[in-house]
Amino acid sequence: MSAFRENRMVIAIAALAIVAAGYWFTRSPDGMEAGMGAPLAEVMVPALDSVAMRGEAAFNDNCAACHGKNAAGRNGMGPPLVHIIYEPNHHSDGAFFFAAANGVRSHHWQFGNMPPVESVSEDEVRDIVAYVRTLQRANGIN
Ligand code: HEC
Repeated sequence: MSAFRENRMVIAIAALAIVAAGYWFTRSPDGMEAGMGAPLAEVMVPALDSVAMRGEAAFNDNCAACHGKNAAGRNGMGPPLVHIIYEPNHHSDGAFFFAAANGVRSHHWQFGNMPPVESVSEDEVRDIVAYVRTLQRANGIN
């Protein structure tokens, strides 16, 4: 191998090592990428009626781990439901019941599939729909 090619190899290996080290040191301590879990939409939270408040509690227990507080989404986890994609004309209330019962095959986003949520009852999903629709309306999604 010529000295020139050997030098290029050394430089390439050094560059790779620097990239790998950079990746290692910028990872957050729990091994997740920076910004993981951050909200993906800005959500204005209006006053909630009693049904929507029940829905909020059920949402926080069953959905917020992926869809985020106030349904604003979570970076790396799940999409915001306060989003034009989920306006009532495009995703009817039935889509919520179906999603909770059967899960969702990834098609709009890159988060992967949503698994069925067995911990939630149909009554709770009804309240969750009221909650999410209240948030959507307050944010101009009708
Ligand atoms: C483990 C993570 C996770 C949990 C928990 C979760 N979701 Fe999802 N959900 C997702 C992901 C990811 C998508 C987006 C799939 C795609 O790419 O379109 C989604 C999509 C949806 C959709 C859109 C369905 C469609 O037809 O496109 C609805 C509605 C929904 N979720 C409601 C809920 C509700 C209500 C709960 C709680 C009862 C919940 N999700 C809990 C991850 C989750």
